[in-house]
Amino acid sequence: MTETMTSHFQLIGGQPAIDRIVDLFYDRMDTLPEAEKIRAMHPADLTGIRIVLKKYLAEWLGGPKTYSEERGHPRLRMRHMPFPISTAERDAWMLCMTGALEEVITDRMLREHLTQQLFRVADWMRNVEG
Ligand code: HEM
Repeated sequence: MTETMTSHFQLIGGQPAIDRIVDLFYDRMDTLPEAEKIRAMHPADLTGIRIVLKKYLAEWLGGPKTYSEERGHPRLRMRHMPFPISTAERDAWMLCMTGALEEVITDRMLREHLTQQLFRVADWMRNVEG
């Protein structure tokens, strides 16, 4: 990326915006009945994963590379192998994420673009039929 290009990280409002998205995302996972099954895959205390996802998304959007520095190559699909993810789990994850994005990203074009990109990642995470 050249210095004249603006990253999505900057466009959405930097780390404070990502922190809000991730907090809203896990709040939704914690409360939405549709997310009960994926919530149960996570530890009771979400503090740790909130911190990790904030760093991951910052890097994914072109911000600081703290995630990789601390945790190495994401190998995200491999890290999700212990959890059975089918279309239902993918859609529950996206339901939590789209609500969070709607609250934080006001630019509709940017929001729809990121939603699509995240859907691709979530879809790629599927590891069981259904
Ligand atoms: C599709 C449905 C998904 C399910 C059910 C799911 C579930 C999980 C679970 C259970 C964990 C482990 C949490 C822990 O041990 O504390 C995890 C970790 C993680 N997930 Fe997902 N996830 C999904 C999709 C995604 C997507 C689309 C992304 C990124 C855009 C993502 C990013 C991460 C990251 C960064 C971690 C931590 C990895 C690490 O240990 O470094 N997940 N996920």
